[in-house]
Amino acid sequence: MNELDGRVAFVTGGASGIGAATARRLAAEGAQVVVVDRDGAGAQAVASELTSAVGVALDVRDGDAVAAAVEQTVADLGELSIVVNNAGVGDLRPLHTIDDKLWHRLIDVNLTGTFNVMRAALPHLVASGHGVIVNNASVSGLAPTRNEAPYSAAKAAVIALTKSGALEYGPQVRVNCVAPGFIETPLTIAFQQFPDTFEPIRRGIPLQRMGLADEVAEVIAFLCSPRAAYVTGQTIVVDGGLSLPQAGTDEALAALFERFSQG
Ligand SMILES: NC(=O)c1ccc[n+]([C@@H]2O[C@H](COP(=O)([O-])OP(=O)(O)OC[C@H]3O[C@@H](n4cnc5c(N)ncnc54)[C@H](O)[C@@H]3O)[C@@H](O)[C@H]2O)c1
Repeated sequence: MNELDGRVAFVTGGASGIGAATARRLAAEGAQVVVVDRDGAGAQAVASELTSAVGVALDVRDGDAVAAAVEQTVADLGELSIVVNNAGVGDLRPLHTIDDKLWHRLIDVNLTGTFNVMRAALPHLVASGHGVIVNNASVSGLAPTRNEAPYSAAKAAVIALTKSGALEYGPQVRVNCVAPGFIETPLTIAFQQFPDTFEPIRRGIPLQRMGLADEVAEVIAFLCSPRAAYVTGQTIVVDGGLSLPQAGTDEALAALFERFSQG
Protein backbone atom coordinates (compact mmCIF):
# COMPACT_ATOMS: atom_id res chain seq x y z
CA MET A 1 0.00 0.00 0.00
CA ASN A 2 1.43 3.37 -1.06
CA GLU A 3 0.55 6.54 0.81
CA LEU A 4 -1.22 8.21 -2.17
CA ASP A 5 -3.07 5.15 -3.50
CA GLY A 6 -6.44 6.14 -4.95
CA ARG A 7 -5.67 9.88 -4.88
CA VAL A 8 -6.06 12.03 -8.02
CA ALA A 9 -3.35 14.68 -8.51
CA PHE A 10 -3.31 17.64 -10.94
CA VAL A 11 0.25 18.86 -11.61
CA THR A 12 0.76 21.99 -13.75
CA GLY A 13 3.95 22.58 -15.69
CA GLY A 14 4.38 18.81 -15.55
CA ALA A 15 6.18 18.44 -18.88
CA SER A 16 9.58 19.58 -17.60
CA GLY A 17 11.89 20.12 -14.64
CA ILE A 18 10.38 20.19 -11.17
CA GLY A 19 6.84 19.52 -12.45
CA ALA A 20 7.90 16.35 -14.32
CA ALA A 21 9.87 15.16 -11.28
CA THR A 22 6.80 15.81 -9.09
CA ALA A 23 4.48 13.93 -11.44
CA ARG A 24 6.87 10.95 -11.32
CA ARG A 25 7.20 11.13 -7.53
CA LEU A 26 3.44 11.33 -6.87
CA ALA A 27 2.80 8.47 -9.33
CA ALA A 28 5.42 6.38 -7.51
CA GLU A 29 3.38 6.92 -4.32
CA GLY A 30 0.28 5.57 -6.05
CA ALA A 31 -1.51 8.74 -7.22
CA GLN A 32 -3.30 8.96 -10.57
CA VAL A 33 -1.61 12.00 -12.07
CA VAL A 34 -2.99 14.52 -14.55
CA VAL A 35 0.14 16.01 -16.11
CA VAL A 36 -0.83 19.49 -17.30
CA ASP A 37 1.31 21.77 -19.44
CA ARG A 38 1.11 24.37 -22.18
CA ASP A 39 3.40 21.91 -23.99
CA GLY A 40 0.81 19.17 -24.56
CA ALA A 41 3.22 16.77 -26.29
CA GLY A 42 5.66 17.12 -23.39
CA ALA A 43 2.87 16.49 -20.88
CA GLN A 44 1.83 13.36 -22.75
CA ALA A 45 5.43 12.14 -22.94
CA VAL A 46 5.81 12.37 -19.14
CA ALA A 47 2.36 10.77 -18.59
CA SER A 48 3.23 7.89 -20.91
CA GLU A 49 6.18 6.90 -18.66
CA LEU A 50 3.84 6.49 -15.68
CA THR A 51 1.48 3.62 -14.89
CA SER A 52 -1.57 5.75 -14.20
CA ALA A 53 -1.40 9.21 -15.73
CA VAL A 54 -2.81 11.36 -18.51
CA GLY A 55 -1.23 14.33 -20.27
CA VAL A 56 -3.32 17.45 -20.89
CA ALA A 57 -2.46 20.51 -22.99
CA LEU A 58 -3.48 23.59 -21.01
CA ASP A 59 -2.38 27.19 -20.63
CA VAL A 60 -2.94 28.05 -16.95
CA ARG A 61 -3.52 31.71 -17.91
CA ASP A 62 -6.88 30.73 -19.45
CA GLY A 63 -9.29 30.58 -16.50
CA ASP A 64 -12.17 29.00 -18.49
CA ALA A 65 -9.90 26.31 -19.93
CA VAL A 66 -8.49 25.60 -16.45
CA ALA A 67 -12.02 25.21 -15.03
CA ALA A 68 -12.94 22.86 -17.89
CA ALA A 69 -9.80 20.75 -17.37
CA VAL A 70 -10.47 20.42 -13.64
CA GLU A 71 -14.10 19.36 -14.28
CA GLN A 72 -12.93 16.87 -16.92
CA THR A 73 -10.41 15.42 -14.45
CA VAL A 74 -13.14 14.85 -11.86
CA ALA A 75 -15.52 13.37 -14.48
CA ASP A 76 -12.85 10.97 -15.80
CA LEU A 77 -10.92 10.00 -12.68
CA GLY A 78 -13.10 10.87 -9.67
CA GLU A 79 -12.68 13.43 -6.90
CA LEU A 80 -9.56 15.54 -7.05
CA SER A 81 -7.56 15.74 -3.83
CA ILE A 82 -4.04 16.95 -4.79
CA VAL A 83 -3.07 20.04 -6.78
CA VAL A 84 0.50 21.13 -7.49
CA ASN A 85 0.68 24.61 -9.02
CA ASN A 86 4.12 24.47 -10.56
CA ALA A 87 3.82 26.06 -14.03
CA GLY A 88 6.07 29.09 -14.19
CA VAL A 89 8.24 31.26 -16.40
CA GLY A 90 11.17 33.55 -15.65
CA ASP A 91 13.04 36.38 -17.31
CA LEU A 92 16.09 38.45 -16.39
CA ARG A 93 16.22 42.17 -17.19
CA PRO A 94 16.14 45.51 -15.38
CA LEU A 95 12.74 46.72 -14.19
CA HIS A 96 12.58 49.85 -16.36
CA THR A 97 13.06 47.80 -19.57
CA ILE A 98 10.05 45.53 -18.96
CA ASP A 99 7.21 46.23 -21.38
CA ASP A 100 3.52 45.59 -20.73
CA LYS A 101 3.54 42.31 -22.62
CA LEU A 102 6.39 40.80 -20.61
CA TRP A 103 5.00 42.13 -17.30
CA HIS A 104 1.64 40.48 -18.00
CA ARG A 105 3.25 37.22 -19.15
CA LEU A 106 5.27 36.88 -15.94
CA ILE A 107 2.38 37.88 -13.66
CA ASP A 108 -0.24 35.92 -15.59
CA VAL A 109 1.63 32.59 -15.75
CA ASN A 110 3.20 32.65 -12.28
CA LEU A 111 0.40 34.29 -10.28
CA THR A 112 -2.90 34.30 -12.21
CA GLY A 113 -2.28 30.73 -13.37
CA THR A 114 -1.90 29.62 -9.75
CA PHE A 115 -5.07 31.52 -8.81
CA ASN A 116 -7.02 30.05 -11.75
CA VAL A 117 -6.20 26.48 -10.73
CA MET A 118 -6.86 27.10 -7.01
CA ARG A 119 -10.24 28.69 -7.79
CA ALA A 120 -11.33 25.82 -10.02
CA ALA A 121 -10.00 23.03 -7.80
CA LEU A 122 -10.93 24.21 -4.28
CA PRO A 123 -14.60 23.09 -4.30
CA HIS A 124 -13.42 19.60 -5.27
CA LEU A 125 -10.61 19.58 -2.75
CA VAL A 126 -13.11 20.55 -0.02
CA ALA A 127 -15.48 17.80 -1.20
CA SER A 128 -12.68 15.24 -1.05
CA GLY A 129 -12.35 15.90 2.69
CA HIS A 130 -8.54 15.71 2.54
CA GLY A 131 -7.50 18.18 -0.14
CA VAL A 132 -3.96 19.43 -0.58
CA ILE A 133 -2.48 22.26 -2.62
CA VAL A 134 1.25 22.83 -3.03
CA ASN A 135 2.24 25.98 -4.89
CA ASN A 136 5.71 26.45 -6.33
CA ALA A 137 7.01 29.91 -5.44
CA SER A 138 10.74 30.75 -5.25
CA VAL A 139 13.26 32.19 -2.85
CA SER A 140 12.91 35.25 -5.12
CA GLY A 141 9.44 35.69 -3.61
CA LEU A 142 11.01 35.98 -0.14
CA ALA A 143 14.12 37.99 -1.04
CA PRO A 144 14.01 39.44 -4.58
CA THR A 145 17.00 38.84 -6.78
CA ARG A 146 18.41 41.35 -9.26
CA ASN A 147 16.59 41.75 -12.62
CA GLU A 148 13.62 39.59 -11.68
CA ALA A 149 11.15 42.25 -10.46
CA PRO A 150 7.89 40.91 -11.99
CA TYR A 151 8.88 37.30 -11.27
CA SER A 152 9.77 38.10 -7.64
CA ALA A 153 6.55 40.12 -7.21
CA ALA A 154 4.47 37.27 -8.66
CA LYS A 155 6.18 34.69 -6.44
CA ALA A 156 5.71 36.87 -3.31
CA ALA A 157 2.03 37.02 -4.22
CA VAL A 158 1.94 33.22 -4.63
CA ILE A 159 3.21 32.95 -1.05
CA ALA A 160 0.39 35.29 0.09
CA LEU A 161 -2.17 33.33 -1.97
CA THR A 162 -0.96 30.16 -0.24
CA LYS A 163 -1.59 31.69 3.20
CA SER A 164 -5.03 32.97 2.13
CA GLY A 165 -5.96 29.50 0.87
CA ALA A 166 -4.81 27.87 4.11
CA LEU A 167 -6.87 30.33 6.20
CA GLU A 168 -10.04 30.08 4.14
CA TYR A 169 -10.13 26.35 3.38
CA GLY A 170 -8.86 24.59 6.49
CA PRO A 171 -9.60 22.12 7.92
CA GLN A 172 -10.70 20.36 4.72
CA VAL A 173 -7.76 21.59 2.64
CA ARG A 174 -4.09 22.16 3.49
CA VAL A 175 -2.30 24.75 1.34
CA ASN A 176 1.49 25.06 1.38
CA CYS A 177 4.20 26.27 -0.85
CA VAL A 178 7.81 25.50 -1.71
CA ALA A 179 10.44 28.16 -2.39
CA PRO A 180 13.28 26.61 -4.41
CA GLY A 181 16.67 28.25 -4.86
CA PHE A 182 18.90 27.42 -7.85
CA ILE A 183 17.64 24.12 -9.28
CA GLU A 184 19.04 22.37 -12.38
CA THR A 185 16.18 22.60 -14.88
CA PRO A 186 15.67 24.22 -18.31
CA LEU A 187 14.69 27.41 -16.41
CA THR A 188 18.28 27.83 -15.15
CA ILE A 189 19.97 26.68 -18.35
CA ALA A 190 21.92 29.97 -18.59
CA PHE A 191 23.85 29.14 -15.41
CA GLN A 192 24.49 25.60 -16.57
CA GLN A 193 25.83 26.89 -19.92
CA PHE A 194 28.21 29.35 -18.24
CA PRO A 195 29.46 27.48 -15.14
CA ASP A 196 32.10 30.16 -14.48
CA THR A 197 29.28 32.68 -13.93
CA PHE A 198 27.65 30.35 -11.45
CA GLU A 199 30.88 29.56 -9.58
CA PRO A 200 30.79 32.57 -7.16
CA ILE A 201 27.12 31.85 -6.46
CA ARG A 202 27.89 28.19 -5.83
CA ARG A 203 30.54 29.13 -3.28
CA GLY A 204 27.94 31.22 -1.42
CA ILE A 205 25.49 28.31 -1.12
CA PRO A 206 26.16 26.39 2.11
CA LEU A 207 25.51 23.07 0.32
CA GLN A 208 27.87 24.22 -2.50
CA ARG A 209 25.81 23.12 -5.51
CA MET A 210 22.62 23.61 -7.49
CA GLY A 211 19.66 21.52 -6.37
CA LEU A 212 18.01 18.78 -8.38
CA ALA A 213 14.39 18.73 -9.55
CA ASP A 214 13.94 15.45 -7.65
CA GLU A 215 15.03 17.14 -4.42
CA VAL A 216 12.24 19.73 -4.75
CA ALA A 217 9.75 17.04 -5.83
CA GLU A 218 10.57 15.12 -2.64
CA VAL A 219 9.52 18.09 -0.49
CA ILE A 220 6.38 18.65 -2.59
CA ALA A 221 5.49 14.95 -2.20
CA PHE A 222 5.97 15.23 1.58
CA LEU A 223 3.63 18.25 1.72
CA CYS A 224 1.06 16.31 -0.35
CA SER A 225 1.24 13.31 1.94
CA PRO A 226 -0.49 12.52 5.25
CA ARG A 227 2.98 12.84 6.84
CA ALA A 228 2.43 16.62 6.59
CA ALA A 229 -1.08 16.39 8.12
CA TYR A 230 -0.49 19.30 10.56
CA VAL A 231 1.34 21.61 8.14
CA THR A 232 -0.60 24.38 6.36
CA GLY A 233 0.02 27.93 5.18
CA GLN A 234 3.78 27.37 5.18
CA THR A 235 6.55 28.14 2.73
CA ILE A 236 9.27 25.50 2.76
CA VAL A 237 12.57 26.79 1.42
CA VAL A 238 14.51 24.24 -0.67
CA ASP A 239 17.68 26.13 -1.55
CA GLY A 240 20.73 24.41 -0.04
CA GLY A 241 20.95 27.26 2.47
CA LEU A 242 21.28 29.98 -0.21
CA SER A 243 18.88 32.34 1.56
CA LEU A 244 20.35 31.98 5.03
CA PRO A 245 21.04 35.49 6.27
CA GLN A 246 24.48 36.51 5.07
CA ALA A 247 25.26 33.16 3.39
CA GLY A 248 26.74 35.15 0.50
CA THR A 249 29.20 36.92 2.79
CA ASP A 250 30.50 33.75 4.39
CA GLU A 251 33.48 33.36 2.07
CA ALA A 252 34.73 36.86 2.93
CA LEU A 253 34.16 36.23 6.65
CA ALA A 254 36.08 32.94 6.46
CA ALA A 255 39.03 34.77 4.88
CA LEU A 256 38.85 37.46 7.56
CA PHE A 257 38.86 34.95 10.44
CA GLU A 258 41.71 33.07 8.78
CA ARG A 259 43.80 36.28 8.90
CA PHE A 260 42.84 36.84 12.56
CA SER A 261 43.77 33.28 13.52
CA GLN A 262 47.20 33.79 11.93
CA GLY A 263 47.66 36.57 14.46
N1 LIG B 1 14.66 25.99 -11.54
C1 LIG B 1 14.79 26.83 -10.53
O1 LIG B 1 15.91 27.16 -10.14
C2 LIG B 1 13.58 27.37 -9.83
C3 LIG B 1 13.79 28.15 -8.68
C4 LIG B 1 12.72 28.68 -8.01
C5 LIG B 1 11.42 28.44 -8.46
N2 LIG B 1 11.23 27.68 -9.56
C6 LIG B 1 9.84 27.48 -10.00
O2 LIG B 1 9.61 26.12 -10.22
C7 LIG B 1 8.59 25.97 -11.20
C8 LIG B 1 9.06 24.97 -12.25
O3 LIG B 1 10.20 25.49 -12.87
P1 LIG B 1 11.29 24.58 -13.58
O4 LIG B 1 12.58 25.08 -13.12
O5 LIG B 1 10.95 23.16 -13.47
O6 LIG B 1 11.11 25.13 -15.08
P2 LIG B 1 10.84 24.40 -16.49
O7 LIG B 1 10.96 25.48 -17.50
O8 LIG B 1 11.65 23.17 -16.60
O9 LIG B 1 9.30 23.95 -16.36
C9 LIG B 1 8.24 24.86 -16.37
C10 LIG B 1 7.07 24.21 -17.08
O10 LIG B 1 5.95 25.11 -17.02
C11 LIG B 1 5.31 25.08 -18.29
N3 LIG B 1 4.55 26.31 -18.51
C12 LIG B 1 5.05 27.55 -18.73
N4 LIG B 1 4.04 28.40 -18.94
C13 LIG B 1 2.89 27.70 -18.84
C14 LIG B 1 1.52 28.03 -18.96
N5 LIG B 1 1.13 29.28 -19.26
N6 LIG B 1 0.60 27.06 -18.79
C15 LIG B 1 0.99 25.79 -18.51
N7 LIG B 1 2.27 25.40 -18.42
C16 LIG B 1 3.21 26.36 -18.57
C17 LIG B 1 6.44 24.95 -19.29
O11 LIG B 1 5.98 24.48 -20.56
C18 LIG B 1 7.35 23.96 -18.58
O12 LIG B 1 7.03 22.61 -18.91
C19 LIG B 1 8.30 27.37 -11.74
O13 LIG B 1 7.14 27.89 -11.13
C20 LIG B 1 9.53 28.15 -11.32
O14 LIG B 1 9.26 29.53 -11.17
C21 LIG B 1 12.27 27.14 -10.26
